[in-house]
Amino acid sequence: MTASLERTAPEGTGAPGRARLDTRTLRTDRWWLQPLVTVAVLLSFIAYATFRAFHNTYYFLDPYISPFYSPCLSDSCAPAPHISLFPSNAFFTPAIFILVFPLGFRLTCYYYRKAYYRSFWMSPPACAVAEPHGKYTGETRLPLVGNNIHRYFFYAGLVFNVILTYDAFLAFRFEEDGAHRFGVGLGTLVLLTNATLLWLYSLSCHSCRHIMGGRLNHFSKHPVRYRFWTFVSKLNHHHMKFAWVSLFGVALTDLYVWLVSAGVFDDPRWIS
Ligand code: FES
Repeated sequence: MTASLERTAPEGTGAPGRARLDTRTLRTDRWWLQPLVTVAVLLSFIAYATFRAFHNTYYFLDPYISPFYSPCLSDSCAPAPHISLFPSNAFFTPAIFILVFPLGFRLTCYYYRKAYYRSFWMSPPACAVAEPHGKYTGETRLPLVGNNIHRYFFYAGLVFNVILTYDAFLAFRFEEDGAHRFGVGLGTLVLLTNATLLWLYSLSCHSCRHIMGGRLNHFSKHPVRYRFWTFVSKLNHHHMKFAWVSLFGVALTDLYVWLVSAGVFDDPRWIS
């Protein structure tokens, strides 16, 4: 049955049983706007993140550290909190050592996959718009088959979230006259917002939802997992929004730390 369906199924515009169109689409609206904006935003983020990863300066002003440089695995980060694991140089900066994890997490994200397949690869660029490729192999071959390791990047992402949340809590502790005091600065709120957005992005992940409620035959026998699954499902509904907002959040948090550490403006703060 399946074989006969496969044999007789139309295979695209112009195939038997399908409309013969000389044009790529009959759509008259601005269908190209969304993929264009997606390309522009993602390229802007990549350009900014690449520059900052090699900038290797202005990423720490006590008690704030940029999310691009945390956790810092090189002693070149001192006086920022760090673990001396790797020597760093102009190319292998502390940001480069950790880049693979957040990058891999975003790159293999189910939502971002949809976004960049449609916008960069135009596969397809929009509904009812023919794609320029003659062949479709899905995610069955290299390099796209690698996207299946998303779940492992999700686990790594959780570790990063814990570290960045810890950074946000450290941002309540200000050193003054040789003593540590509790305080709140604008930077504290910026780091806290960034950590919150990253948690929302991670917890709304499709893999997270599957981890919570997947492979169960009876929710009634797993009430705790069912509760978590219900909660994550609600977040999952907004995953696209969290994906974009948290991306901006990371970049803006880094920008804030850059500007205050470079002395462009003072961080407004209240210290007890
Ligand atoms: S699906 Fe987007 S982070 Fe997992």
